[in-house]
Amino acid sequence: MEANTTETKKTMLSGIQPSGDLHLGNYLGAIKNWSGRSDEFDCFYFMADLHAITVRQNPADLRRRTLEQLAQYIACGLDPEKNTLFIQSHVHQHAELGWVLGCFTMFGELSRMTQFKDKSAKHQDNINGGLFTYPSLMAADILLYQPDFVPVGADQKQHVELTRNIVQRFNGVYGDVFKMPEFYSTKEGARVMCLTAPENKMSKSAPEGCVFLMEKPEDIARKFKRAITDSDTEHCVRFDAENKPGVSNLMNIYAAVTGKGMDEIETEFDGQGYGTFKTAVGEAVIETLRPIREEATRILSDKAYLESVYRNGAEKASRVAEKTLRKVYKKVGFIPR
Ligand code: TYM
Repeated sequence: MEANTTETKKTMLSGIQPSGDLHLGNYLGAIKNWSGRSDEFDCFYFMADLHAITVRQNPADLRRRTLEQLAQYIACGLDPEKNTLFIQSHVHQHAELGWVLGCFTMFGELSRMTQFKDKSAKHQDNINGGLFTYPSLMAADILLYQPDFVPVGADQKQHVELTRNIVQRFNGVYGDVFKMPEFYSTKEGARVMCLTAPENKMSKSAPEGCVFLMEKPEDIARKFKRAITDSDTEHCVRFDAENKPGVSNLMNIYAAVTGKGMDEIETEFDGQGYGTFKTAVGEAVIETLRPIREEATRILSDKAYLESVYRNGAEKASRVAEKTLRKVYKKVGFIPR
């Protein structure tokens, strides 16, 4: 029975680094597209702790955030009975396939990765090998599970493209080993921008422009009230990403959390100032995040439950990952033990 459903379903996979608290960009760009898919897809979602240490982490904080992230995944609607939720470092096949795929990733390709350039500029005292070869590990994360779709925000598209190059290169030598994965995202959530500097993506490194999933409603309301709008003279809520990046970002956020279209939003706020609009966006976000925060807080207090979830998840993930890894080892010429 299980084998049958698994064969007919397509697969989805994604992950987030527990290097900071989850924020609205992570939610709208990624997690929101993961939930409610388990009837249609075999779903694998993980906490990318191996990736997180490419930047120095305080060990206690890393442990805490990894568990919090798991509680938040569940609170966002990922039922552990229907989705495989696991911690990356619990499935050793990631690191092993990461090594093999590193041998199929070119220095030039890795040098072009925007995330590497950004992070090495930010952490000049720690431009380590892991930071550079990180996309090979991400390719391994993906390919171990042979997914059809990888739901991520736009900033990760380049890494998915590189994964596709690796598939082409590897399959070109060894035959059809890996399935070609597709990047998946939604228009409104793909690129959530910073509230105080809308030319940058929303990120934990600018906390005043970033809304965290677990943040108190009054703090969220304050951040939206202070959000930068545009210095144009027309003062109306109209979507124009190039000339009105602040308002357009808020419109994107509002569209993503309410499901409303841009025309509808323009009509709703026709003739009203930016202040009313910003308050409305803040309220819509608060109401979206409220049940998530409450449920995550409840789940977090049950450590035994969380432990059972990540143990079962690692077991299920390992079975799938091992199958792929064995195939790869055989293809490249390693002798089975
Ligand atoms: P990470 O941890 O930086 O971000 C996690 C997810 O959140 C999305 N995201 C955003 N989306 C819209 N607007 C934003 N401002 C924003 N900020 C973050 C990211 O696009 C991502 O989907 N390399 C990955 C983690 C990873 C992974 C994987 C993902 C490791 N292995 C395998 C998919 C498959 C990363 O650093 O994402």
